[in-house]
Amino acid sequence: MKILVLTAHPNLETSQINKVWFDTLSSAPDVTLRNLTQIDGPTMTFDIAAEQAELLSHDRIIFQFPFYWYSAPPVLKAWMDQVLSYGFAYGPGGDKLSGREFLLLISTGGPADSYHAGGYNNFSMDEFLKPFQQTALLAHMRYLRPFVFHGMARATGDEIEASVLPMLQHVSDPELDPAVKQARLLRELEADPEKAAAVS
Ligand SMILES: Cc1cc2nc3c(=O)[nH]c(=O)nc-3n(C[C@H](O)[C@H](O)[C@H](O)COP(=O)(O)O)c2cc1C
Repeated sequence: MKILVLTAHPNLETSQINKVWFDTLSSAPDVTLRNLTQIDGPTMTFDIAAEQAELLSHDRIIFQFPFYWYSAPPVLKAWMDQVLSYGFAYGPGGDKLSGREFLLLISTGGPADSYHAGGYNNFSMDEFLKPFQQTALLAHMRYLRPFVFHGMARATGDEIEASVLPMLQHVSDPELDPAVKQARLLRELEADPEKAAAVS
């Protein structure tokens, strides 16, 4: 599985957690990393054909960013506006991303318990992330469960380090899509009639 990570941080050099994730992912197998802030320069103008070619040569597409005002930093929106174009990602003939997997890799300042009804952020991450979910679905991609690290406002270096392994396991898990996992379980049951009889 070839993984493309599009990193959208305004300044990775001052980042605490996204830089750690970025550096870790840069040596992970089958991962291509693109630091959008570095690629586009200050104008946020992308080479659309080059960006689309990158998408087409990967199976799993990941947007990595710090949560800013309940969304992504602007460079990612600029990339989306330009690259996910009519006839490519949606509209007539716009099925070029069909079947690819899509997931979000996010850090937040607020703690996990704030992202609930009754918490100070009132809404869940799934609710805040709906525009990304629907973008993926409109582009015929499979939206996978996001990886979110909460509580950067108070996180220690040890907690940041401890996030690295679960983050890596999550983004490279070949069975993040429940349909893929279920298909494997079914295959295993079919291969083991005794087990299948016990389950049914
Ligand atoms: C402009 C701006 C907006 C932010 N908005 C939010 C927000 O809406 N929710 C939240 O939990 N944290 C918010 N934060 C905190 C960042 O998410 C946090 O600093 C970031 O995840 C840390 O990642 P880094 O160490 O890679 O920079 C915001 C920070 C900045 C600078």
